[in-house]
Amino acid sequence: MRDFEYLQMENLEKAFGGLTPVRALGGVNMKVAQGEFAALVGASGCGKSTLLRIIAGLDTPSAGRAFFHREDGDEPIESPSRDRAMVFQSYTSFPWLSVRRNVEFPLLLHPDGGNREERKAKVDHYLELMGLTEFASQYPNTLSGGMRQRVAIARTLVNEPGLLLMDEPFGALDAQTRWQMQDLLLNVWGSSRCTVLFVTHDIEEAVYLADKVYVFSPRPGVIRAVKDIDFPRPRDPDIKLTDRFKTLQVEILNVITETVMTAAKETAAGGRGPEDLKKTLVEKPHHGGDGA
Ligand SMILES: Nc1ncnc2c1ncn2[C@@H]1O[C@H](COP(=O)(O)OP(=O)(O)O)[C@@H](O)[C@H]1O
Ligand SMILES: [Mg+2]
Repeated sequence: MRDFEYLQMENLEKAFGGLTPVRALGGVNMKVAQGEFAALVGASGCGKSTLLRIIAGLDTPSAGRAFFHREDGDEPIESPSRDRAMVFQSYTSFPWLSVRRNVEFPLLLHPDGGNREERKAKVDHYLELMGLTEFASQYPNTLSGGMRQRVAIARTLVNEPGLLLMDEPFGALDAQTRWQMQDLLLNVWGSSRCTVLFVTHDIEEAVYLADKVYVFSPRPGVIRAVKDIDFPRPRDPDIKLTDRFKTLQVEILNVITETVMTAAKETAAGGRGPEDLKKTLVEKPHHGGDGA
């Protein structure tokens, strides 16, 4: 990927039509510097996956824009690209291919994927990095959830994307596997220094991994707070035991709780039903007489 100063979302909005229109994103503004590890947290349904899909080029915004800012100008995101790779919570490997073939597969799809030897070298590197070397000839359904997710991540990394979009990638894993995967990811990121946008429900995970945690309001999602996480790198799991770590977690949780409470009050005061919902799509929600 060509170098960029930052990836910017400017007043990015997304509404879905249909019988019950949904305003998923309500004007997102954020700037993510190249090489930054950004974590996105917020209530379920606040548009985090929608935002990642727009950045991946899999969906288009209803208003506003997403673009890479470079010295020589802005490059809008208009379509998918190998440079922007998504990793989902569910394992996206092919069950009929061995681990090695799964990781090699993306290279076969592209004319510049390299010759046989080059491909083998690359695949070996990422298998090694993800601790999969000894499982190379196995099939995904013989592996645990954590190992399968490693295969999915290795398949993504083999394309060497400049931007890694991770949508609750460890959400289906048990706590211990999750911790291992976090360290593995930090390790990989430390050597590639790609830019990461990482969505998670887990505030501890967000604080442990990220340089910055972006806190979303409930739907329509906007960014309510940005927390700088300044623990040194490489991160030591023991930072989770420090007061500073716990304070950050509580501060983030407080912002989320506050935004959820405010949204609940606004809904209660503004009424419901399709007509009211439609109104809230075009107007700011109005407050009732409760002084909120
Ligand atoms: N393709 C779609 N059509 C209609 N509504 C959608 C679509 N995708 C997402 N939504 C709605 O947009 C809102 C935000 O969804 P999503 O981005 O998945 O939130 P999150 O990832 O934060 O949980 C939700 O109310 C969801 O139901
Ligand atoms: Mg989601």
